[in-house]
Amino acid sequence: MTSLLNKLSDIVGQAFESEGLDKAFGRVGVSDRPDLAQFQCNGAMAAAKAAKKNPRAVAESIVPKLQANLMFSKVEIAGPGFINLTLTDLELGKYISSISADQRCGVDKISKSETILLDYGGPNVAKPMHVGHLRSSIIGDSIRRILKFSGHNTIGDIHMGDWGTQMGMMISELQLVHPDWVYFDESFTGEYPSESPVTMDDLEEIYPRVSALCKTDETRLELSRAATVDLQNKRPGYHALWKHFVTISLQSMKRNFSALNVHFDLWKGETDVHDLISPMVDDLTKRSYAVKDDGATVVHIKKNDDNKEYPPLILYKRDGGVLYGTTDLATIVERIKNYNPSRILYIVDKRQSLHFEQVFRAAKLTGIAPESLELTHLGYGTMNGSDGKPFKTRSGGVLKLEDLIAMGHEKAMQRLEEAQAAQDLSQDEKDDIASKVAIAAIKFADLQNSFSADYIFDLDRMTSFEGKTGPYLLYQAVRIKSLLDKAGYKQNPQITIKPDDAGRNVILTLIELPQVIDIAARNYTPHVLCDHTYKLAQAFSSFYGNTHILSESDEVKKQGWLEISHMVLCQLELLLDLVGIKIPDRM
Ligand code: ARG
Repeated sequence: MTSLLNKLSDIVGQAFESEGLDKAFGRVGVSDRPDLAQFQCNGAMAAAKAAKKNPRAVAESIVPKLQANLMFSKVEIAGPGFINLTLTDLELGKYISSISADQRCGVDKISKSETILLDYGGPNVAKPMHVGHLRSSIIGDSIRRILKFSGHNTIGDIHMGDWGTQMGMMISELQLVHPDWVYFDESFTGEYPSESPVTMDDLEEIYPRVSALCKTDETRLELSRAATVDLQNKRPGYHALWKHFVTISLQSMKRNFSALNVHFDLWKGETDVHDLISPMVDDLTKRSYAVKDDGATVVHIKKNDDNKEYPPLILYKRDGGVLYGTTDLATIVERIKNYNPSRILYIVDKRQSLHFEQVFRAAKLTGIAPESLELTHLGYGTMNGSDGKPFKTRSGGVLKLEDLIAMGHEKAMQRLEEAQAAQDLSQDEKDDIASKVAIAAIKFADLQNSFSADYIFDLDRMTSFEGKTGPYLLYQAVRIKSLLDKAGYKQNPQITIKPDDAGRNVILTLIELPQVIDIAARNYTPHVLCDHTYKLAQAFSSFYGNTHILSESDEVKKQGWLEISHMVLCQLELLLDLVGIKIPDRM
């Protein structure tokens, strides 16, 4: 299957070639000025520059060749040398017919597939997930879906924070309260219990309390640090207890991520690279990259032309403990060894940009990462409340992901009631619809913004069935499903478009899809897909509002319109899937 844009690029490229110019100049895109033409090629300007010719003259030599092609109803030159192209209705109809049965909606796979590892989610064991983890996981999962669909080999890794000081805090607290537990008996050599002595609720209560205590109480902090170092040295009782933390945290994470329809290929964490750290530091020390600095072991990453301060990356603290940067560097070692990716993308809060700059510099400087490996931090902004400050619960706390999902669900249910939708369904079915509406609302509200920007969380607005919202898009898709049902739609590969056809605008929007996905994949920008999804839904909605499809007596027209509607549904399904949104059957 060749997408229409590729086919047109090929035709225009051949015209350039026959003038002795590079075929690549013939690249065709959707027109910026739909009032003038459907498509455009800007290659004459670049070709003229390369051949030291006048751009208009180049365009003038190309255009007659295209005018001779019966596919086009109009070929014109605009401005300095833009080539404007418009297809005949016959061609448009043929194209829609040709993609009608295509699983990929007419989008080609890229020709050169790469292995791309994506690091997103990043929840921390024993700490509740908050809305920051929500952003990371839904943005990262969407970028993964887009790259995968484009034809790349993608690997999504959750990279849990499972090795930090919070572990020492939990363990030392439990040891103070339950000194008699077998986990703390250093002479114990038997099997530790398989049942966890604590629940997720216990952990969620202990962590913030002890973390606050450590800020004011030096002895508590020391105790936590010591426990962290002991854990990292694999003290058996601590390690067994830690394993329980991981197991129960994983259960809660899996529940949350499944509710969010977020997928990971790997459920790895910081601990998975623990054994790589000491050989890595030894190697860096031998090669004089790792040096002692005030008792710590560091890598200096300053460059001569820096115009700001870049502190060294600390590998070992003075007490021998390892830090976030150490595990991130070792994780690069591990990823190269196991997956050999050509790119690693980190979808992490933009406030961590210095951290990633330090790690990337250290990786490149020391040769841990080859020059060819692209390391990119895609830093996202903050989800704010209506006061413009990071979103907090009414009691002033950080909103837990679980509670956010529950809030969305409740609001979605209320919206369904208001719209008197799904009234004849059972409670279970209604619950299922409300879940899909809630997730669509939350994800679409987030992903429609360029991710580096902050955005305001507004539950009322994002759950509305009108405007640029997830529920509006679901509603449009469901409406098409029901139209096709009522019409008894069957795929009909022959579609004819008549000159007065109201569906033409919808067809032109359908044709844009390959270009839109290409842009989103190249720039890692799910919001471009969100914009296009909304544009397509709106184009369909106005077409549907002005056309009486079901009562149309001209069978050819009616079949054509149903075919268009079906194609819109297929593309909406694909686009929404690329942002991780599922469509209910009814609403
Ligand atoms: N656990 C970290 C946090 O909660 C995010 C991890 C991001 N990934 C990474 N490779 N550092 O902030």
